[in-house]
Parts: sequence; C-alpha cells; structure tokens
Amino acid sequence: MNKHALYTLIIASFTIGGCSTMKNSTTAGKASDDRPTIYDLCAKYSSDKCGQAHNFITFYDRLLTPKRDSIERFFEIGILNGASHLMWKDFFPNADIFGIDLKDYSDKGLKDGIYTFVANQAKREDLQAFIDKYGGDFDVILDDGGHAMDHQQVSLGFLFKYLKPGGYFIIEDVHTSLPAFYPREEFNVDDDESNTTLRMIENYIRTSFMVSEFMTQEEMMYLQKNIESIELTYRTTKLHSTMCIIQKKEEW
Ligand SMILES: C[S@@+](CC[C@H](N)C(=O)[O-])C[C@H]1O[C@@H](n2cnc3c(N)ncnc32)[C@H](O)[C@@H]1O
Repeated sequence: MNKHALYTLIIASFTIGGCSTMKNSTTAGKASDDRPTIYDLCAKYSSDKCGQAHNFITFYDRLLTPKRDSIERFFEIGILNGASHLMWKDFFPNADIFGIDLKDYSDKGLKDGIYTFVANQAKREDLQAFIDKYGGDFDVILDDGGHAMDHQQVSLGFLFKYLKPGGYFIIEDVHTSLPAFYPREEFNVDDDESNTTLRMIENYIRTSFMVSEFMTQEEMMYLQKNIESIELTYRTTKLHSTMCIIQKKEEW
C-alpha cells in the first residue's frame, strides 16, 4: 500500500470511529424496545431528579441506560417518599434496590425487591449494620441523603469498598459545598471551605491524594488506590446543580 492510500485509510477509520461514538451518545437512552425510558419513569414517580429541579436524569440516562439489563444491586441513600427507589425498581428489570434513611420505611409498602433500612449515613456503625444485613457488591451506590459534608464523605469513605469492581459511586447535590448558595451551618461547611466535598474532589484531581477530615486513613488510601475516574457534572440551574460520578477500578 502506498503512503497516500495508508493516510486515507487512517483518516477514514478515525472518521468512522468518531461517527460511531457520536451515534452511541445521541442514541443512548432511546429504548430499543417497548419499555418505558428512564425519563418516562422519572415523570411517573415525580422524582426531583428530572425536569425543573436538578435535572440529573440526563446524566443517569447516559450512564445507566446502557447498563439497564446488567445491573443487579442498586443502593440509594435517602428515601423521602420512595419516588426514586420505585423508579429504579421499574427501570432495572434484574436488580434489587436498597435504601437507607433516618426514617423507617419498613411499613410503607414499597415494592417487592426494594429493601429499606434505618441508618444515619454519617455513622459507620449504622452503615456496617446495613452491610451486615444486606451485603455489599453493589453495581451503583447513589448518595441522595442529607448532603452535609460529613454525610457525603463518611458514606463515600466507608462504602466505596462495597462497590463491585467497575461500579459507580454517585454523589448528588455536591453544590451544598458552595456556601454562597447553600447555608454553611446546615451542611457543615467550615469557614474557610477547606472541608467541602467539592474541594476534596478537586484536590484529588490536582494531587492524586484523597484527603478528608471525615475519613479514616484506611478509607482515604483505599479511595486513592481504587478510583478509575471522576466526573463532575454541573448544570446551569438556579440551584447550581452539581453531581459527582466516581468509577471504581476493575480488578486486575
Ligand atoms: C432528597 S431526599 C431523598 C429523595 C429520594 N432519593 C428521591 O430522589 O426521591 C433526602 C432524604 O435523606 C434523608 N436523610 C437526611 N439525612 C440523612 C442521614 N444522615 N442519613 C440517612 N438519611 C438521611 C432524609 O430523611 C430524606 O428522606
């Protein structure tokens, strides 16, 4: 093959590769079957993950719709009225859904396949009791609980080891790290903002060191060794909607 033909071939394969990547991202979430989409279910259960509020659902569509049939264990912190847990149960046909909250939901009659447990996400002994009862090995752990700095960082530090390799730990409402918009006392933000979840993530990206006053040394080391990627998403809503998606490394 002469040089010109080789260059043409390389350029053509880049172009085809680029097109197919774009195609995948634009078709992500469009159900290839008759099942309701994640948007349909979000609207059905009136979850605040969609529409006018934070609109995190577009990110969930991109991340989770391609994994819809393979996810088996999905754990969300923070139940409120059960909207999101009901949505996940309908969305993932092969998954058990787990939830913890300060309040007891055991008599609320959420669906079969949704398991709830009373726990404070900022207390390791509560999280341990939940794991002792239901096990780990989650495909996804989603934190939509109290959104204070200690809540977010204790839960991330303690629970990351209970994710499957390649699994995702998602922290919603990372914007509570921004005292210009959210009251610092309510979310346990220091005067100099040095303890915020947003600062911790930015510092990790900058230095490769995970440092948190709310984590043990062992938890920080485990995170440092086992993070594959971090994605911070920001949407220009009035709420400054910010979310963080942390993927765990696959096992070698
Ligand atoms: C934003 S709501 C959850 C909404 C629900 N995930 C949804 O999308 O439909 C937050 C929930 O977190 C719970 N919560 C607040 N602080 C908590 C804590 N420290 N530990 C566990 N749950 C907490 C509250 O009781 C409330 O039900």
